[in-house]
Amino acid sequence: MTTEAPNPRRSVLFVCLGNICRSPLAEGIFQALVDAEGRQDEFTIDSAGTGAYHAGEGADPRSITVAAEHGIHLASVARQVTPEDFDNFEVIVAMDRSNLRSLEHMRTGRLVSSRLVMMRDFDPAGPGGDVPDPYYGGADGFNEVFTMLDRCCRSLLENLDS
Ligand code: 4NP
Repeated sequence: MTTEAPNPRRSVLFVCLGNICRSPLAEGIFQALVDAEGRQDEFTIDSAGTGAYHAGEGADPRSITVAAEHGIHLASVARQVTPEDFDNFEVIVAMDRSNLRSLEHMRTGRLVSSRLVMMRDFDPAGPGGDVPDPYYGGADGFNEVFTMLDRCCRSLLENLDS
């Protein structure tokens, strides 16, 4: 009799600067996609910020609103990236180049298991570039970021499955 090894649990950490606008949205969208496929048991999904300015706060009301308009409830509480994240998460997804540089700096000199990638490397509408920071803009920016993150998250999930 052969016994198959159980699938290892996948783990994804979405990272932006403040962990109140972009990465909570990415976390909520990715979780909703996984939930829609009934695959909650396969994934650990979280988000964090490279900065600690907003640690302990809920997501920005504008992110909460745009997510709610798409049936997604954002319940995240902001936290800063920790050194343990580089061991605990299989994939760490940076929203922009500045986040990527901060994460690379944090892991310098450490042997870590996680894979560091950019969110827009998975953008089927045109890979590369940043998820723009909508913090200082209006609702339009949050709508645009939602649409971008939605298509990137779908593509990321497919990529993890392949
Ligand atoms: P996020 O957006 O990195 O997408 O959460 C920001 C939130 C707060 C600030 C900047 C960006 N801030 O400067 O406080």
